[in-house]
Amino acid sequence: MNPTQIIIDTDPGVDDALTILLALASPEIQIEALTTVHGNIGIEKTTRNALAMLEFANASHIPVARGCSLPLVSPLNKSGDIVHGASGIGKAVLPEPKSKPISQHAIDYLIERILAAPQEITLFTIGPMTNLALAIRKEPRIAEALKGLVIMGGAIRSGGNITPLAEFNIHADPHAVHIVFHSGIPITLIPLDVTYKCLLTTADVERLNRIDSPVARFVRDATAVYMDFYKKYEGFDGCPLHDPLTLATIIAPELLTLEEHYVDVDISGGISTGKTFADFMKVSKQPANIKVALDVRGRDFIELFIERMEKLA
Ligand code: RIB
Ligand code: CA
Repeated sequence: MNPTQIIIDTDPGVDDALTILLALASPEIQIEALTTVHGNIGIEKTTRNALAMLEFANASHIPVARGCSLPLVSPLNKSGDIVHGASGIGKAVLPEPKSKPISQHAIDYLIERILAAPQEITLFTIGPMTNLALAIRKEPRIAEALKGLVIMGGAIRSGGNITPLAEFNIHADPHAVHIVFHSGIPITLIPLDVTYKCLLTTADVERLNRIDSPVARFVRDATAVYMDFYKKYEGFDGCPLHDPLTLATIIAPELLTLEEHYVDVDISGGISTGKTFADFMKVSKQPANIKVALDVRGRDFIELFIERMEKLA
């Protein structure tokens, strides 16, 4: 079976970096490009980390297009470094990348690449959706040209992780999310409701490091700060593999329980800004616009992640 062609719009970011590795370790997937965005850390570092990750994995043939440095309306989030470290990839140290991003802006790259291959590209947004929102506004035709869109973001029945109600990627640029949710693109949403059930534990990392390899050491070093954050602020051992879980839609869809609902995002500007909600009771009379993952076999996904990292190692 031909691999699924994907573009990952990303703010690396520890779990973004693990997503890039998992995609490269998965024969079901062909990464066409990475587009970078502000988010966990500033655009300079997310772009550097994207280039560095590809070089680390001997995949520098994959183009990187640099994207937006600011949200559409909201102020720039500047708290990501307590979760992802000052570098954005925890305690992992990667050489300064030799490769450079392509000259085209991520917005223009997305438009050109998606229109050139109608119904072939699946886009994964695993950071704030500023680039995609502006691409839709600049060229609305990409909405019907995209084969699909998989979003890591949102909190449906779950509480938030950046405010008591909102999830980070959504809250970082809720106006961008509103454009995307109402674009007509076929969307699958991977919210905190399922990603918090996919905890990579210290035991998993120790098991992986039985293999003496740069990949195993990268996973250990990159997740060190991430693990400390969750221990300190949420009181559990391990770190949720938020972004990597999006790839389960291709490599292990049987692990996810998806339901179609009308889903929207609060952009009213008050305390609940960035909250995503599903109209389970169908009171809005709106047609379902999103497939939402509401359950997952979390440990099975972690096992799959470790197996693929062991193969890559
Ligand atoms: O809420 C989790 C999301 O926020 C992930 O994409 C993580 O990388 C951060 O960007
Ligand atoms: Ca991310």
